[in-house]
Amino acid sequence: MANKMKKEAKVLSCGLLAEGIYELWLETPFAKDVVPGQFVGVYPANKATLLPRPISVCEVDAERSALRLVYRVVGSGTAEFSLYRPDDFIMLLGPLGNGFPLDKAKGKNVVVMGGGIGVPPLIETAKKLSGEKVSAVMGYRNSETFLSEEFKKYSDMYIATEDGSVGTKGNVIDAMRENNIKCDVIFACGPMPMLRAIKAYAQEIGAKAYLSLEERMACGVGACLGCITKTKEIDEHSHVHNARICTDGPVFDADDLEM
Ligand code: FES
Repeated sequence: MANKMKKEAKVLSCGLLAEGIYELWLETPFAKDVVPGQFVGVYPANKATLLPRPISVCEVDAERSALRLVYRVVGSGTAEFSLYRPDDFIMLLGPLGNGFPLDKAKGKNVVVMGGGIGVPPLIETAKKLSGEKVSAVMGYRNSETFLSEEFKKYSDMYIATEDGSVGTKGNVIDAMRENNIKCDVIFACGPMPMLRAIKAYAQEIGAKAYLSLEERMACGVGACLGCITKTKEIDEHSHVHNARICTDGPVFDADDLEM
C-alpha cells in the first residue's frame, strides 16, 4: 500500500448532487495510488481545527491524476468544502485506510451494497471489479438516488428506497431478496444498522462480506479515538478486542467484527 502524503490539491470542479450532498474533483499527485474503499483527510482552511475531515474516495481518474470526493455537509468543515471553486487549493492527506480486498471477488458473484453517504466509495469499487459478475444494490431514503445512474456503467443496478418511490420499498436486503440476486461476496459501506443486517444476511446465505465502517470516523488519522470498534481478534498493543476503524480499517471482514 502506498505511503500517505500531505499535499496541496487543486480543485478541478465541484457540484451539488442531491440535497446536502456535494462533489469535488481534486488534482493530487497521489491519485493513482488510491484503491477502492480508501479515504483522504481534507483539511479545513480554518486553523482553529487542526484535524482533517475523513472523506471517502468516490472515483479515481489516473489520467488527470484526480480524485472525486462525494460528501455530505454535516458541520463547519464540510460546509467550507462546499464553497470551494475551480482553481482553489485545499490540503489533502492520503491515501488513508486499507480499502476493499478486490482479489476475494475473482470469479465470484460479487455485490456492492451501499446506503446513504456509504454509496460513493462503491463507484470506484464497481469500476475496478468490472470484468467480474457485479451487481450494485444501493439504498436511499427517497427518490434522491444520487450516483445510481453511474453504477449502470459497471454493474447490474438495483435500488431500494425507504419510501418506495424508486425500486424496492425497504432496504438493500429486501432488494436482494426481491430480485433474487446471486451473491458469493459482498463489499458494503453505510450506516451501522445496514451493515449489521448485511452481516446477518451474508451468514444466512453463506456469502463472505467485507464491511467499510467509515461512517463512524471522526478525525480519520488515529488521533481522536472516536472510532473504536469491537473485534474478535485481540489488538497486539492494547491486548483488548478493539480496533481503530481509521487506522485498522475502514474495511473489515464481517466475521471479525462484534457488531
Ligand atoms: Fe479519530 Fe479514528 S477517527 S481515531
